[in-house]
Amino acid sequence: MIRIAVIIGSTRPGRRAEAVARWVADTSVHHPAVAAGQAAVEVVDIAAYALPLLDEPVPAAFARYANAHTRRWAETITAFDGFVFVTPEYNRSVPAALKNAIDFLYAEWHHKAAGFVGYGVHGGIRAVEQLRQVMAEVKIADVQTQVALAMFTDFTFTDPTDPTDPGTCTPSTRQEATLATMLDEIISWSQALKPLRAPSTAPEPLPA
Ligand SMILES: Cc1cc2nc3c(=O)[nH]c(=O)nc-3n(C[C@H](O)[C@H](O)[C@H](O)COP(=O)(O)O)c2cc1C
Repeated sequence: MIRIAVIIGSTRPGRRAEAVARWVADTSVHHPAVAAGQAAVEVVDIAAYALPLLDEPVPAAFARYANAHTRRWAETITAFDGFVFVTPEYNRSVPAALKNAIDFLYAEWHHKAAGFVGYGVHGGIRAVEQLRQVMAEVKIADVQTQVALAMFTDFTFTDPTDPTDPGTCTPSTRQEATLATMLDEIISWSQALKPLRAPSTAPEPLPA
C-alpha cells in the first residue's frame, strides 16, 4: 500500500486551499490504484500542527528535534510514501507557512515522490517552480505532470468582486484527467523508491 498525503499549503483564515485539497482527495478516490486498495490518499493540514516559525536550535539534517510540535509533524510525514503539495501562489512564490513546514524536517522527506496542485491567477505555476527547487534539497523526486488551477476558470464565486468569498473549487474534467496522470506518476515513483526508504527514513550520517 502506497500512502499519499495531500498537504494543504495555506494556513490563511478563509483559505481556498481546503477546497482544493478536498477536490484532490475526492477525485483521487476514482484512481484505479486507490479504488483497488493499492494506494491511499489522505489530507494533511499543516495548520493542524500549529508550527511556529522554525524554532529548532539544530538544523533538521541532524534530526535532533527539541520540540514536541516538530516530533509530531515528523511522525506524520514519516508515515507517507509520497505527496501532493496543494499550494497557492503568494507573491510569485509559495506561502511562508508551507516553506516553514518543509524546513522543519529533512530525512522524513527523503526518497519519496511528489506532485503539485498549484492555484492562483495564473495557476500557481511560479510557486510550483520554486517548490521544485526546494524538493531537490530534501531529496523528493518531483513528477513532471502538474495541475494548475486558475482563479477565473477553475473556481466558482458567489461574488467575484468579494475577496472574502472562498468560492468553490470547480475544475474541468481536463483537470481531473491531469490529476489522474499526476497520481499515476507519484504512485509509481513512490513504489520504485521504496528500497531506498527501507528499513526506515532514519537520518543518514552527515559528513564529519
Ligand atoms: C499574500 C498574497 C500574495 C498573493 N500573490 C499572488 C501572486 O503572486 N500570484 C497569484 O496568482 N495570486 C496571488 N495571490 C492570490 C492568491 O492566489 C489567492 O488569494 C488564493 O486564494 C490564495 O490561496 P489561499 O486562499 O488558499 O490562501 C496572493 C494572495 C496573497 C494572500
